[in-house]
Amino acid sequence: MLQEIIRSRRSVFPANYTGETIPEKDFSRILDSARWAPNHRKTEPWRYKVITGTALSRFADFMSTAYSKVEGHKKFKLKKFQENPLKSSAVILIFLHRDEKESVPEWEEIAAVSMSVQNMWLTTHDLGYGCYWSSPKPFADMSKFEGIKVEKNEKFLGFFYLGTYDKEIHELPERKPIETIAQFITE
Ligand SMILES: Cc1cc2nc3c(=O)[nH]c(=O)nc-3n(C[C@H](O)[C@H](O)[C@H](O)COP(=O)(O)O)c2cc1C
Repeated sequence: MLQEIIRSRRSVFPANYTGETIPEKDFSRILDSARWAPNHRKTEPWRYKVITGTALSRFADFMSTAYSKVEGHKKFKLKKFQENPLKSSAVILIFLHRDEKESVPEWEEIAAVSMSVQNMWLTTHDLGYGCYWSSPKPFADMSKFEGIKVEKNEKFLGFFYLGTYDKEIHELPERKPIETIAQFITE
């Protein structure tokens, strides 16, 4: 049931990944679900740069080199940037693509990209893999990663890490009750 999938979806971090590769058939299902999010004026504003295979270790070098240049960088964080891509099956760079006419306000496009990411997140979870969205890191310019094509009208919105993991039972985290998040106006 869809509600069960929605409720049991969690952020699964690279520290929990077992390092295997998500089979191509499943991976293309994940990417296919990204295409079916709602979007205003049919702009389809999501663009993804998929880092996988041997590019993952280049990406780990790229991120850790950029982070090592940060003043007062922390060793444990540097280690994270070195290790996380290597534990992942793929790292998808999430981009917002603005159409030439800027047909709709930017917030609507960010909302549409977020829904596209949620589609991937739910599909990944439903297929039994783990993933999470990590916010953009201000020290790293993704357009400098060798081989990537980033257009002028594309804006980086973060990293989507995916990997295999040993499914453990996650306790449901706290969420605010319906009475807090919804006001009913009935008369
Ligand atoms: C837009 C966005 C950005 C996020 N960025 C980060 C991040 O940089 N680091 C992190 O640990 N989690 C990040 N998360 C994941 C949240 O921490 C996570 O969704 C939240 O703790 C709720 O847990 P759940 O996804 O298991 O329900 C992000 C989530 C979203 C939607």
